[in-house]
Amino acid sequence: VQVIFGCYLSSSRKAVVPVVEKWNRLLFYPTLYEGFEYSANVIYTGAAPNQNSVPLANYMLQHFGSRVSLIGSDYIYPYESNRIMSDLVLQHPGGKKLSERYLKLGASRQDFAKAIQEIRHLAPDFIFSTVVGADTALLYQAYAEAGLDPLRMPIASLTTSETEIAQMGAVVAAGHITAASYFQSIDNEQNRACLQRFFAQDRASIQPNMCWEAAYFQVHLFAHALRASGNDEIECLRPYLLGAEFNAPQGRVKIDARTHHTVL
Ligand code: ACM
Repeated sequence: VQVIFGCYLSSSRKAVVPVVEKWNRLLFYPTLYEGFEYSANVIYTGAAPNQNSVPLANYMLQHFGSRVSLIGSDYIYPYESNRIMSDLVLQHPGGKKLSERYLKLGASRQDFAKAIQEIRHLAPDFIFSTVVGADTALLYQAYAEAGLDPLRMPIASLTTSETEIAQMGAVVAAGHITAASYFQSIDNEQNRACLQRFFAQDRASIQPNMCWEAAYFQVHLFAHALRASGNDEIECLRPYLLGAEFNAPQGRVKIDARTHHTVL
């Protein structure tokens, strides 16, 4: 295998990177992540903290306040993403971290109910969640069941996408806030056409989100590079990938040659 598209959890990327480096192969990673990484064998097409954590922190500090509780799943992305959010909040006048808690992946409904009760007593201005995957619905459902009000103390997240909203239900999701490089609702021709082709394929049970969109455009970038080079080995593809641009559903994107990350 010369080229891999994939990994969601940062823990899986951290496991794959040394292998693609050892064999000099290419990984396209489509997920938002905690940043502070570079590999010559990886093209990163999801958002890094300057592209999602910073705008989210600015918005939350301006609209809700600077006292925050952090809750996350127990692995590398939440620890690192919470560290960055903590820095952004603490740099702000009056910024305060009231709590920071991690729940193991696959935690129970009761675990989330207990965590929400703890946060309720602290009464932060907002909650920053780095809970990921199917657990996300349990967190937001526990919040709704506790009778809390998103207008006063919303959950802010970088990972709660259309996919997780479909799992928790729109009523439970309403009023909470996500910062991402892509939403289905982006109103441009490229996005409309792409979604139309996707839903025409009878995949109504799958909800496209920012990882889907990055996965989509990175395959196009690869296809262009492969067409130009005629060879799928990394040394042949790389010159055609670095600096490459594409009209993605989110808008124009460009692979930054120096960092291997994407201008979104
Ligand atoms: C993530 O683990 N990068 C969401």
